[in-house]
Amino acid sequence: MNVDEIRETFIRFYTERGHVRIPSASLVPHGDPTLLFTGAGMVPFKPYFMGLAEPPAPRMCTVQKCFRTTDIDEVGDYSHLTLFEMLGNFSVGDYFKEEAIGWAWELLTEGFKLPKDKLWISIFLTDDEAHDIWRGIGVPEERINRYPEENNYWFSGDVGPCGPNSEIFVDRGSRPDTCNECRDGKCKPNGEPDCGRFLEVWNLVFMTLYQAEDGSRTELPRKNIDTGSGLERMACILQGKDSIYETDVF
Ligand code: SER
Repeated sequence: MNVDEIRETFIRFYTERGHVRIPSASLVPHGDPTLLFTGAGMVPFKPYFMGLAEPPAPRMCTVQKCFRTTDIDEVGDYSHLTLFEMLGNFSVGDYFKEEAIGWAWELLTEGFKLPKDKLWISIFLTDDEAHDIWRGIGVPEERINRYPEENNYWFSGDVGPCGPNSEIFVDRGSRPDTCNECRDGKCKPNGEPDCGRFLEVWNLVFMTLYQAEDGSRTELPRKNIDTGSGLERMACILQGKDSIYETDVF
């Protein structure tokens, strides 16, 4: 699949499930003094998540251009870019974990035809609900790993909507020659250093909280879903390349 087909497959899948397609917003967020750039697909939707404005529809999907400065030290490796496109589906007080997880799995395994046994899942340490949904779908226990806030909690900046997340990784094959964990059969997503075996392709954020400047968190008026999947990474996997720079995006 080339990138045009990946974009269209994603958008078709979610519009068929009641999502309204919203165009990519400006890279400079409007009316948001907390962010300099649009670094994620959810940025234009912050007022909806915060209950400050009504969304055009409770279910939306986008292919959002993103400029992410927080990853700048990683740019130039096999999977990080400054400017990239993020495929995303969003629910503002509509569906929640069950559908967000189920649809991501369905699109990856049926739409994009990724082998089920190559998909690994991360969840927030205490998120038994997400764990049970993934187990119900058939993901074996050993491929679901729990991580602390550092890995599995998503913040839209120092201030703003946030929540625990669940990430989907593609296993690109063990690297016993260069990775001790691979050699010992213990390599998992989020390994340090990153040996390149696992590529994160989708982040599902269960966005229910708001973090204030002093770090305190309060509940948002509604339970929301914010997901993001890097188009170039998806292309890298679907085109069987080692690096995003080898995809047809470039
Ligand atoms: N906001 C999350 C991210 O950028 C999911 O879309 O990864």
